[in-house]
Amino acid sequence: RESRAMKFQRQHMDPDGPNNNSNYCNQMMRRRHMTEGWCKPVNTFVHEPLVDVQAVCLQGNITCKNGQPNCHKSNSSMNITDCHETSGSKYPNCDYQTSQKERHIIVACEGNPYVPVHFDASV
Ligand code: A3P
Repeated sequence: RESRAMKFQRQHMDPDGPNNNSNYCNQMMRRRHMTEGWCKPVNTFVHEPLVDVQAVCLQGNITCKNGQPNCHKSNSSMNITDCHETSGSKYPNCDYQTSQKERHIIVACEGNPYVPVHFDASV
């Protein structure tokens, strides 16, 4: 079974991307299995080395959107792509708007080793 840490990598890590094209989210949301059974409405991909994203778990501790205390905000801004489902998207034809940004990321971390398991926000 996929661990929560592996699920985070599948849903949120793309160190070699983005491929600089407006179809990025349409392709990646499908390729990473977030368009099976439903269209995941919002998802962020991070284009930084995995070790740098894992290191965020040692950076500034903040409260998550759901009130849990295990979120961490990156010291540096990171290259990310936000994927937002468009108003015209209809499962199974999931359609996304692709927006590249440079933002501080906020992730929730869990376990030993203490690693990212959830992408909370970018600021
Ligand atoms: P599920 O995987 O059970 O849906 P995301 O897809 O946004 O990265 O979230 C991954 C999982 O982490 C989601 O659960 C989400 O509900 C969960 N999650 C949300 N806030 C969390 C927190 N503070 N700590 C751990 N997990 C959290």
